[in-house]
Amino acid sequence: MIKVSLISLGCAKNLVDSEIMVGHLHKAGMQVTPDAEAADVVIVNTCSFIDSSKEESIGHILEVHAQRGLRKRRKEQKLIVAGCMSQRFSKDLPGSIPEVDAFIGLDQVTQVAPIIEEIYAKERAKGDLPASFVTTRSTYIPDYDTPRFRLTPAHLAYVKIAEGCNHPCTFCIIPQIRGRHRSRTVQSVVAEVRQLVAEGVKEVNLISQDTTFFGMDTWDERPNPRTPVDSTRGTALTSLLRELNAIEGDFWIRILYTHPAHWSDELIRTIAECPKVARYVDMPLQHISDRMLKVMQRETSGDYIRGLVKRIRAGIPGIALRTTFIVGFPGETAEDVDELCQFVREARFERLGVFRYSQEEGTRAAKMEDQVSPKEKERRWHQVMALQKEIAASVSAESVGKTLRVLVDEAGVARGEADAPDIDGRVYIPKELKVGSFASVTINGHHDYDLLALPEGESPASYKVARQAQ
Ligand code: F3S
Repeated sequence: MIKVSLISLGCAKNLVDSEIMVGHLHKAGMQVTPDAEAADVVIVNTCSFIDSSKEESIGHILEVHAQRGLRKRRKEQKLIVAGCMSQRFSKDLPGSIPEVDAFIGLDQVTQVAPIIEEIYAKERAKGDLPASFVTTRSTYIPDYDTPRFRLTPAHLAYVKIAEGCNHPCTFCIIPQIRGRHRSRTVQSVVAEVRQLVAEGVKEVNLISQDTTFFGMDTWDERPNPRTPVDSTRGTALTSLLRELNAIEGDFWIRILYTHPAHWSDELIRTIAECPKVARYVDMPLQHISDRMLKVMQRETSGDYIRGLVKRIRAGIPGIALRTTFIVGFPGETAEDVDELCQFVREARFERLGVFRYSQEEGTRAAKMEDQVSPKEKERRWHQVMALQKEIAASVSAESVGKTLRVLVDEAGVARGEADAPDIDGRVYIPKELKVGSFASVTINGHHDYDLLALPEGESPASYKVARQAQ
């Protein structure tokens, strides 16, 4: 039996691709092992978003290769590179990393088992370049019955509702890697979520490049960014959320990766009216300065964004907003950063991340003049992050004394609705509650981005007494 080990890098979208590969390996009767040393084949599923992710991917590939050179058993081991880096550099990589045995792209995730059999069947002659199975334009999208083996804890799952991206952001390479936006049907997503909930999943994280654009690729005309979206005219995220909310069971639906251009009052109303949809919105904004938004081609303006944040807060009481910004984009001035800081102060995002702009070959922004020096990017990053640290501390302090419903991720560690897995903070509880269950806790302290809590009804004093009696 062929033993395969898989290293999954990058974002949750790539993780779902890894899960699909593992599902197909199982289906083909191959054994999947976490122990790379014992494997006949190692697959590295790569990320290529920014320079550091490419470096990380190449580091893992070379490490796997170095290890197989060191150990006798691993000399015969095959090394396959998959994912975004393989897709993006499909022409160059076979020549530049000949240590690899085969490259596969995003559309080959379901064919991984026959590809392994093929590279086993053909002896590679000395000097031959690695085999490449990558097809140029990615069009694949999974369905509810696509074989998949979840690599997340049993109580949470990522569900890819669409793939690809139609936005023209000048800094981003992902549309060139992952292709045009294509949505699954509402029925396909509902069937998958129903199955997940039946298996005991308590948190369903909806993902794609732009979750708010779900279904809109099937409309006759592309919706005009920033004009109110009439989502009653066809499939949209709103129709999907209402159907998911109607599935029986106790679970959360979390919406990740929304784009501000396609928010609508109907979407705000839908989230407010669907109790299973977490009071949490992830909406990368990238900047607030009109000049920057224009050169980034974000299809939004500062005033529109300010208004949207107000509409979301007014329409969905208790909502936690997560966003990300980019600092050091070409042409960004100190005034632009001051405007951004002012906005961060006003909007008081519950969760916020900042990226230093990365000059990515193949993007329009990479060719722009006035690139900002690495030192200045770093300074601006610290400026915004220091401000957010203060805001996050005051947001956390406001939680103290409140009772929160949390989902227990592991012994003593949980998350509330306002915290997405692997991205946001955690709630630490000095008691082992059942992993994968919901619990009510009272917040009694905080530490940076994390909260400290006790099970509801237990005071610190009674808790000490209970502990001593144990
Ligand atoms: Fe994700 Fe990295 Fe690809 S962020 S979409 S794995 S480039």
